[in-house]
Amino acid sequence: MSQTRLLPADATGIAEAARLLREGELVGFGTETVFGLGADATHDRAVAGIFAAKGRPHFNPLICHYPTADAVFAHVEADDRARALADAFWPGPLTLVLPRRVTCPVALLAGAGLETLAVRVPAHDQALALLRATGRPVAAPSANRSGQVSPTTASHVMEGLGGRIAAVLDGAACPVGVESSVLDLTGRGAVLLRPGGLPRAAIEAVIGRVGTGITPAQAEAARGLRSPGLLVSHYAPGLPVRLDATHVGPDEALLAFGPPLPGAATTFQLSETSDLTEAAARLFAGLRELDARGQGLRAIAVMPIPAEGLGEAINDRLQRAAAPRP
Ligand code: TXA
Ligand code: MG
Repeated sequence: MSQTRLLPADATGIAEAARLLREGELVGFGTETVFGLGADATHDRAVAGIFAAKGRPHFNPLICHYPTADAVFAHVEADDRARALADAFWPGPLTLVLPRRVTCPVALLAGAGLETLAVRVPAHDQALALLRATGRPVAAPSANRSGQVSPTTASHVMEGLGGRIAAVLDGAACPVGVESSVLDLTGRGAVLLRPGGLPRAAIEAVIGRVGTGITPAQAEAARGLRSPGLLVSHYAPGLPVRLDATHVGPDEALLAFGPPLPGAATTFQLSETSDLTEAAARLFAGLRELDARGQGLRAIAVMPIPAEGLGEAINDRLQRAAAPRP
């Protein structure tokens, strides 16, 4: 593959992107959370192409995207909890892990050979139009090279994957900005495997108490077990990341939340007003921006971010960005 086409996110571009997907090509597209790297989930070679393009060291299970809950439940088995959550939050940033139906046509590689499948309906007009036009489930991890910061704009995708995939559907930046919450419903108790764009409290309001998910420290041990996609060092920018900074040096870049600490070499403001939703939407762009501005600096210092609401997902991503590198 030599050139990656940037397709307009209008009817023509969406039709062309759908045609490419049906032919087994890879297409980057926007969702409300982050940009996904899509492939026809029923096409083995296309799904394998995702791992090749991302340079993923392992076959982690991928999320399959559908245009409606009915389309989802034709491929996986839903219990009452799954239906209630789908009613409440789809389309939206919630991924459910459910048992595959025997008739499920999704390539085994998309689920990394597991008997379960991660599924969601994205809340994003262009993504939904693309899914309807494709007429197949679309497997899509975040559209970045393995281990790098997730993309929230089409140009982020081009920077990381240009020349390695057929096309990127151009479009507005992702409003949520962190990946979907991943909820495992295959056991008796629901378990939040990955905190994300839908806060835990919203899920608990519908199905009651949700088990404690996996923490970054537990994640490495879980590789090959419950949620093989969760590596400790992930979302890693080039500069080291220092969390919970209460002061900042002149040789550091500052990721600020609320009134910024004085003295940094350069500062990126996540949210002047300490708004967690705004901060989530700007998180990955901020890490990229400071990485680019901060060449030669010692580290990115990150101001403390409260753990409530979307703060759980933001802190999870930041802990991964700060984790020791392999
Ligand atoms: O917001 C999102 O979810 C984005 C957009 C593109 O939709 N997608 C995304 O996909 O973040 P990915 O592949 O980067 O993350 C998939 C997550 C991983 O943590 C993986 O381990 C988990 O879902 N997962 C997928 N299938 C699973 C399964 N069968 N059992 C347990 N965990 C699973
Ligand atoms: Mg990812």
